[in-house]
Amino acid sequence: MSDEIKKGLLGVVVDETNVSQVMPEINSLTYRGYAVQDLCEKCIFEEVAYLVLNGELPNKKQLKNFIKEERSDRKLSKEILSDIRKMPKKAHPMDVVRTAVSLMALEDKETKDNSPKANMRKAIRIFSKTPIALAAFLRSRKGKKIISPKKKLSFSENFFHMCFGKVPSKEIVRAFDVSLILYAEHSFNVSTFTARTITSSLSDIHGAITGAIASLKGPLHGGANEEVMHMMNKIKKPEKAFKWINKALDNKDVVMGFGHRVYKKGDSRVPTMEKFFKNVSKINNDKKFAKIYDIVKEVMIKRKNIYPNVDYPTGPTYHLMGFDTDFFTPIFVISRITGWSAHIMEQHAANKLIRPLSKYTGPRHRKVTPLNQR
Ligand code: COA
Repeated sequence: MSDEIKKGLLGVVVDETNVSQVMPEINSLTYRGYAVQDLCEKCIFEEVAYLVLNGELPNKKQLKNFIKEERSDRKLSKEILSDIRKMPKKAHPMDVVRTAVSLMALEDKETKDNSPKANMRKAIRIFSKTPIALAAFLRSRKGKKIISPKKKLSFSENFFHMCFGKVPSKEIVRAFDVSLILYAEHSFNVSTFTARTITSSLSDIHGAITGAIASLKGPLHGGANEEVMHMMNKIKKPEKAFKWINKALDNKDVVMGFGHRVYKKGDSRVPTMEKFFKNVSKINNDKKFAKIYDIVKEVMIKRKNIYPNVDYPTGPTYHLMGFDTDFFTPIFVISRITGWSAHIMEQHAANKLIRPLSKYTGPRHRKVTPLNQR
């Protein structure tokens, strides 16, 4: 056995998967064999959620049943709603959704059942209820009345309805739906690997998703979409963007929303999301962020040959849709629950406890000196 250390598991293939494939050499990402761009063009988010969870695109009847199940699970118990109301207003919404999923485990009648069927039912319940918890916190922290979900609305429409009390235009809802499709799944990234690691001890799906949310929060992973917005707010005006980004690079700062562990020549999700971001900017008649976006991107590519990742266009898109910046990564969560769940079920189906080795570098063979002699 080689004792070479692969820091950050760089380049290590740890398992097989048939959920998604990232192919950096041809700039492609497929979910269950379907190119993500093709899915964005032809599907609604619920179809893609079904595909990621089940392995196949649904036919009409399967989609109808899936939508029915998702909509009928859209409610939280009085206890969880009351807990959300009591949560500190300044709490980060990522911590709120992480806690909400953990609380759901306390109530779910199948928490302990790791059978494939129970796991699928639980996955759909977590998928349906997490956006409800997030929207409830959005309202409650502003002292506003929590809005009940509506069964006649799609997943995305209902989220807008519960956050803002209204559903925006079809184009805005479509841009949001596309962002969810793009965020649904991305192979063995750190949060998915976290979920699989937790699952490998035969723990349950609520625990694995709770851990995955904690992992996604970090700025080197999902937290980047929030950081992009903070950066754009610091830049303030398009006229300042060129100087700002050059100075950041002179200072050797890490520029959020750029770079990727796997993609080195551009993230396959960016062109689609960029198109929708520019369209939302046009609809809102607010091109400030689109201009900053272009300038920063151009300098990053010219000076560093580093390309944007999907968090770069989603950040300002969510801002233009009216979401508070700290809600961007939780929005990523409500979509990625599908990918995590698919991986958790795949891990259960062919499990092997994940337990790597480490090279010990601490002191060796020391004798304990009794307390009174230290
Ligand atoms: N801004 C500036 N420089 C960057 C950069 C960025 N966003 N991303 C990578 N680099 C530089 C590194 O400084 C390093 O330069 P060096 O060789 O001179 O030291 C080089 O590119 C390689 O980067 P490295 O950090 O080794 O790549 P990685 O594969 O470990 O990291 C990320 C990938 C995503 C962690 C990294 O690109 C990053 O921190 N990006 C910003 C956060 C982000 O947007 N995350 C969302 C990912 S979807």
